[in-house]
Amino acid sequence: MKGLIAIMIVLVFIVGGVSFGVCAETSDKCAVCHKGDKALDKIVAKKNIKTAADLMKAVKEGPSAKMHAKFTDDDFKAAAKSLKLAE
Ligand code: HEC
Repeated sequence: MKGLIAIMIVLVFIVGGVSFGVCAETSDKCAVCHKGDKALDKIVAKKNIKTAADLMKAVKEGPSAKMHAKFTDDDFKAAAKSLKLAE
């Protein structure tokens, strides 16, 4: 019985660790809010954003600029990179 419990605990750690790893890979600072329907790749496609500069412009001049005030240009560049936009 103890062995079974030990196996289950190990399994929970493995499953938890794997899903944490997956999250850590796909999520960045933006994914906290941008997920599902609002995922950045969807926004980018819809707004025809092609470059990092387009992305920054969309954020800074967009209706939700205040939501993004704490981000730096580097954050947007990193986001653009993970979205595979041009520099
Ligand atoms: C605190 C929550 C939050 C975070 C974190 C966040 N956003 Fe947003 N973002 C929003 C909301 C809310 C909208 C408006 C969504 C809509 O119009 O449906 C938005 C819209 C946008 C838009 C579309 C332009 C606009 O103003 O409507 C872009 C581009 C964008 N975000 C990029 C980013 C990037 C890049 C990051 C990471 C550096 C990021 N966001 C992080 C909340 C957030």
